[in-house]
Amino acid sequence: MSLLKKHASLEKNLSLLFVCSLVVVLIGGIVEIAPLFYLKNTIEKVEGMRPYTPLELAGRNIYIREGCYNCHSQMIRPFRDEVERYGHYSLAAESMYDHPFQWGSKRTGPDLARVGGRYSDEWHVQHLIWPKAVVPESIMPPYSFLARTPLDANDIEGHLVANAMVGVPYSEEMIANAAADLRAQADPDADTSGLEERYAKISIRDFDGNPGELTEMDALVAYLQMLGTLVDLEAYKANENLR
Ligand code: HEC
Repeated sequence: MSLLKKHASLEKNLSLLFVCSLVVVLIGGIVEIAPLFYLKNTIEKVEGMRPYTPLELAGRNIYIREGCYNCHSQMIRPFRDEVERYGHYSLAAESMYDHPFQWGSKRTGPDLARVGGRYSDEWHVQHLIWPKAVVPESIMPPYSFLARTPLDANDIEGHLVANAMVGVPYSEEMIANAAADLRAQADPDADTSGLEERYAKISIRDFDGNPGELTEMDALVAYLQMLGTLVDLEAYKANENLR
């Protein structure tokens, strides 16, 4: 029987065809999946990543609550047009402490993975209060209530604990100081020495332009201003060239 004839009988026997197809698909699946179980880590280590500060984490929670991800991605893909517009493509390690990650799949607005430091705090506050004030053609909805809403700091410790449970390296000290650290980051007059020791590359200032009050605007702007700023990409690129 020639090979072709054997194949013809396979095509005519439905159960045999099903079993053989399954075997072929299984082999493909095993080849793709099995190595992942033997890799220690699928995320390449990079210098500079640290867990979010309590204030940044609170801002991130607001970002999720308000559904910003419905219009914004946080994932710069390694294509020339994206890299020229948004900066170095996103590294897996840059979202290693994100639970859940905010890669998003919709870009009604621009990608935000590296928006940190691109605008001033005042710009962000103006933009969030009334986007058209700074970008006249903007279709982004206003979020002015954030500037009037006091930030609820009471449950932040629980958020750190939850993140620690899924592997974010928050120390006991970070958890114990969560609420105080949250307040101190938005208050330049507070004693922030412990805070700076706990979190590298931290920005400490009043973010919403209203030093008298800790608002949800403080937290969201603190979060936006740190996005994409932790990893030293020049050092990463230099390393990459050596490899
Ligand atoms: C309905 C879609 C939509 C939603 C929801 C939305 N945005 Fe936007 N966003 C846009 C669009 C469109 C732009 C571009 C025009 C502009 O700058 O306003 C934009 C721009 C931005 C920019 C400036 C980015 C840059 O690089 O210029 C930031 C920062 C931003 N949005 C943050 C947020 C945050 C934070 C939220 C949630 C509180 C949010 N957006 C919700 C549509 C949206």
